Amino acid sequence: MSKPLVFTRRSQLTEFVQNTKARGDHIGLVPTMGALHEGHATLIRRSVSENSVTIATIFVNPKQFGPSEDFGRYPRPLADDLALLESCKATAVFAPSIQEMYPEGFKTSVRVPDLSDVMCGSFRQGHFDGVCTVVLLLLNLASAHKAYFGLKDFQQFFIMRRMCLDLAHPTELIPVATVRESDGLAMSSRNRYLNPEARQKASAIPQALAQAAKLFLNGERKAEIIVSKAVQVLSAEKLQPQYLDLRDLEALQTVVGEIQNEAVLALAQPMSVPNGSCRLIDNIVLSTNPFYRGILEDLIARTT
Ligand code: PAJ
Repeated sequence: MSKPLVFTRRSQLTEFVQNTKARGDHIGLVPTMGALHEGHATLIRRSVSENSVTIATIFVNPKQFGPSEDFGRYPRPLADDLALLESCKATAVFAPSIQEMYPEGFKTSVRVPDLSDVMCGSFRQGHFDGVCTVVLLLLNLASAHKAYFGLKDFQQFFIMRRMCLDLAHPTELIPVATVRESDGLAMSSRNRYLNPEARQKASAIPQALAQAAKLFLNGERKAEIIVSKAVQVLSAEKLQPQYLDLRDLEALQTVVGEIQNEAVLALAQPMSVPNGSCRLIDNIVLSTNPFYRGILEDLIARTT
């Protein structure tokens, strides 16, 4: 196996991209903040299978963390990350410093209003502006044919897709199904903050989503009934989500009355852990489209 090339400078990346494109290669991009796990690995393998060159990026982006969030303690196990990238056959990794990404004088902020202000956005002010700014910059530097994002961060994917559509970005964005642990918990770099007790409680999150999915697949369309079912499963474990929203897939508006066609059921759940707290997010897309239906059936199978 050959080790991925490691670039830390923008100029190294852009030169590599130019040479790669001159050879007619197809580039797949996988943006990450590192602390890589099987969820990230799935995105990388998917890119490797669809492109001749895969570039992963590792950058813990300060612009998307609030002042009281976990930027300082976000895990940065670079050696492990490089080993995982090698095993997934990534071609290159771009791991810049903050100074390299945001040199002195950097001013621009990219904002997708409304979509960025609901759900996670209403609890993490400015978070999605930071995500949009860094992702647009990475998309521009990598000039990829395709970029891969996980549906675990459904709102993030939804906003990135709007941004690229509005700004006519040529990179095609590919959504990848959430990769889950055997009990259904969505894999996350933040799961490593959980002690055994919190980890046990966290399994109620996929169970709540699975119960809602079951209702939907059995024909239930009333928002109130679907949401109450999820709340009931969480309450039984004394979990109180920061938000638990059922939203449409046009403009992320709250579904009132009945689901028309499809909707996303998403939540953020703060968990108390020994050194403070940690916030887990998860979601399911309630849809009978075969791609999403398969995801719902997989989740139900894991939680029963
Ligand atoms: P990060 O949390 O490292 O996630 C990088 C990518 O991996 C995102 O597209 C995310 O949705 C995906 N991912 C994470 N866990 C996953 C899982 N269990 N299953 C499937 N995909 C999963 O998201 C970010 O970083 C940042 O906001 C970023 C886009 C890199 C911008 O800084």
